[in-house]
Amino acid sequence: MTLSKSVSEQIMRAAQILRHGGLVAFPTETVYGLGADACNAEAVRRIFRAKGRPADHPLIVHLSDIGEMERWAQDIPAVAWRLAERFWPGPLTLILKRAPHVLDEVTGGQDTIGLRVPRHPVTLALLKAFGGGLAAPSANPFGGVSPTTAAHVIAGLGHAVGAVIDGGPCAVGLESTILDLSGMRPRLLRPGAVTSCALAEMLGAPPATQTTGAPRASGCLPSHYAPNTPLRLVTSAIPELNRLPQPLAVMAMCLPKTAIAGCRWVTMPRDARAYGRALYARLREIDSWGCRCILVELPPATMEWEAVRDRLGRAAASADKGQPELT
Ligand code: TXA
Ligand code: MG
Repeated sequence: MTLSKSVSEQIMRAAQILRHGGLVAFPTETVYGLGADACNAEAVRRIFRAKGRPADHPLIVHLSDIGEMERWAQDIPAVAWRLAERFWPGPLTLILKRAPHVLDEVTGGQDTIGLRVPRHPVTLALLKAFGGGLAAPSANPFGGVSPTTAAHVIAGLGHAVGAVIDGGPCAVGLESTILDLSGMRPRLLRPGAVTSCALAEMLGAPPATQTTGAPRASGCLPSHYAPNTPLRLVTSAIPELNRLPQPLAVMAMCLPKTAIAGCRWVTMPRDARAYGRALYARLREIDSWGCRCILVELPPATMEWEAVRDRLGRAAASADKGQPELT
């Protein structure tokens, strides 16, 4: 892909800001990231301040090329190279033993590091122009819904960033799959567009799933990725409508036969990828309606829906605990 002159200029300016320790929000194929020079402790601390994120939650370091993995990790297992060859650039983050020089600010003091080569051409061009690793969480205030457009970033963190590069809406729309390869067995910490099935093909067996006592990962908290309006998951919305406070919003794959008073209906795509791409933008839109509750009809429990179901489950968890508002 050829980048337009104005995008190339934005990238050059952004690389300058990063070299001076500033923050830049950039598009990736998953969600927008809030990036800083991963070798500059003060710049990395700025990310935590901007997001309101606890300092012990580690950040993913974004790289421009597979070959850079060795600069950031050590004791890299052969399977990590195979997975990187197969899925990078792309929506897969690998957790590996960290190299000695890696800052504690990036890893939250853990002995591991999350690495990913993103697929968006703008991000790859930015990484090349910058010439180093970029530590970047999703570009949203801690606990909220990840941004999938530049406008979402500006709405949440516009005041805190030196520049926002607009690369259009994210193609995947959900955060990367996170696979922990630092222990005895590969462990899936967060499902994403690279499915457990696709990982199993490369690993020879499905990865283990998240258990208690796992490494700290804010995206692994039960209540995360939450809109402000309480969200409830149901198999079918209609029987629930009279039991819940109105006005209500419903997210479902088909419309009711007739309009229902006190209820705004949002039809979601039947295709899992299209649903994932649309999910966060729709949640933000519904959040702005001032409804008392969002009722979401759960998509099927099949592999292709694992990432969508995971994010919906986390969004619903904050409502269960009576904490609709996370910051
Ligand atoms: O798609 C994505 O992964 C996006 C884009 C910007 O790359 N990034 C993203 O970052 O979602 P963040 O920080 O919002 O979520 C990354 C998750 C967090 O839950 C973090 O705790 C976990 O990755 N993580 C990072 N390093 C880790 C490590 N060493 N061990 C365990 N979990 C780690
Ligand atoms: Mg995040």
